[in-house]
Amino acid sequence: MPDAHPTDFNDRMLSLGLARVSEKAALASAKLIGHGDEKAADQAAVDGMRSELNKLDISGVIVIGEGERDEAPMLFIGEEVGLGTGPAVDIALDPLEGTTLTAKDMPNALAVIAMGPRGTMLHAPDVYMEKLAIGPGYPEGIVTLDMPAAERVRKLAEAKGGDPDDITVCILERPRHEKIIAEVRSTGAAIRLITDGDVAGIMHCAEAERTGIDMYMGAGGAPEGVLAAAALKCMGGQMFGRLLFRNDDERARADRAGIEDRDRVYGRDDLVRADVIFAATGVTDGSLLPGIKREVGWLTAETLLMRSKTGSVRRMVYRTPENRV
Ligand code: FBP
Repeated sequence: MPDAHPTDFNDRMLSLGLARVSEKAALASAKLIGHGDEKAADQAAVDGMRSELNKLDISGVIVIGEGERDEAPMLFIGEEVGLGTGPAVDIALDPLEGTTLTAKDMPNALAVIAMGPRGTMLHAPDVYMEKLAIGPGYPEGIVTLDMPAAERVRKLAEAKGGDPDDITVCILERPRHEKIIAEVRSTGAAIRLITDGDVAGIMHCAEAERTGIDMYMGAGGAPEGVLAAAALKCMGGQMFGRLLFRNDDERARADRAGIEDRDRVYGRDDLVRADVIFAATGVTDGSLLPGIKREVGWLTAETLLMRSKTGSVRRMVYRTPENRV
């Protein structure tokens, strides 16, 4: 019987095209970094990403995008993208992950996109997801979503061969996180509070030596959860997510997205079920990637391009005359 989700979708060659897509989104938003206009920055990134995506030799469908069809005119969920001639693929994207970070020129805004064989990514509804992530090299299940925050810290510290004060946890600074922040602090662990951008927050765990982050926890967007899972699938590391619902409208969103078990705990490989390629380009300077560098007449972008099949990680620097963007 043919494999319903073939893992080979010509990802080797397509990955280079994917880097151009995230590059384009980041470059397109460059002029709007630090200009206080979130909407304009997002729109520029969307336009840039869409134009480049539509040059790829794929029959793509957006699974994680700018919103449901009636909410987003472009890059909406279900939109068909690409030339329509290549392999059938699922696409998860966020042209500007960290719109406020970009508008305020704060760290770690990224343009991100992931691609995998058709039917292999979770159609995550636009609701919150409780997330937990750690980097590679730890025993499977050493931390879980069902553990209290303090226990997660203690377990991870033990596995790392240290004490809780050797652990740094990344958490979105939100009133909803007051309890876990207090719990983590009670262990002696450090917390890096971020104001936005939990895809980057989770990716930080996979490069703990570079970023200083050992664990990510807290609630953020479910669509961003799928993107983060795609990144960790390439970089290594564990991730868990559970959808959170605040009202009936959100439950209806999950129904429309085809979610059958609303209480399910998704592991990294449930969120992204087959090999994937992932590209992220830095928009503002961050601990994973430098942001867009502007010199008179020139722009420079750095992109992280990864394939889960091989575990390969490329860092690509692209310099272009500004008038070509
Ligand atoms: P935007 O880029 O759409 O502004 O999202 C940024 C972000 O911080 C995500 O990284 C995160 O998952 C989500 O918003 C958190 O949502 P909220 O701001 O409602 O807490």
